[in-house]
Amino acid sequence: YKRITVKSLVDMKTNGEKISMLTAYDYTMAKIVDGAGIDVILVGDSASNVMAGHETTLPITLDQMIYHASSVVRAVERALVVVDLPFGSYQSDPKEALRSSIRIMKESGGHAVKIEGGKEIKESIKRIINAGIPVMGHLGLTPQSIYKFGTYTVRAKEDEEAERLKEDALLLEKAGCFAIVLEKIPAKLAKEVAESVSIPVIGIGAGNGVDGQVLVTHDMIGMTHEFNPRFLRRYMNLYEEMTSAFQHYKEDIKSGDFPNDTEQY
Ligand code: KIV
Ligand code: NA
Repeated sequence: YKRITVKSLVDMKTNGEKISMLTAYDYTMAKIVDGAGIDVILVGDSASNVMAGHETTLPITLDQMIYHASSVVRAVERALVVVDLPFGSYQSDPKEALRSSIRIMKESGGHAVKIEGGKEIKESIKRIINAGIPVMGHLGLTPQSIYKFGTYTVRAKEDEEAERLKEDALLLEKAGCFAIVLEKIPAKLAKEVAESVSIPVIGIGAGNGVDGQVLVTHDMIGMTHEFNPRFLRRYMNLYEEMTSAFQHYKEDIKSGDFPNDTEQY
């Protein structure tokens, strides 16, 4: 495989090739996602919800993110591995943001970090990039700010927030980000943003006018089943298939059918 780099992603935008991105938090899943040829693997702080069962992304720690990321990195041969900076690991000041990013790069072997926010974290982004660490931005619905927003509904529907988001996107590009994630904003706005910057814009619930798409893997394969936003396309229904497999296994044990003569020594 030829490895995907931050440069490959910018080239994809230039050539009009859409970027594919999925999450992974562990070795086994990352191996499958990478083997399928997905361009970018995000070790998202959504691990806080999906892996640990928390209601929000706030509780996951930097140490836990590094554990997830190092497991993913060991599996990946081709994809670019981007690791979320978790809540509390960068907001205090730019030095803390850099220190956390350095820990992620050294201790996990990830290739880039992702950080939520715009203008308010500009200095932190510059400092991280100055150290040679590629940064992906994240605007729109930024789940680490859920207690400020109050709900997980669509962001930037009002002109004022939309204008601020457009400014933030330009600012992230100027600060040196190699890409931006836009989460849950109107498709028209996302398309405008993608056209206004030369770096790739990757959407989740941001329509088809952007340069690539990202989904949470466990959602798109239907392992989770209680989360049903409009933007989520389910490619499998693993919740039902796995439930059925576990039930059959139990039945086979109870009936004495498992293990059979060929399944023992
Ligand atoms: O943590 C995550 O999974 C994310 C994506 C939804 C973009 O940030
Ligand atoms: Na995230």
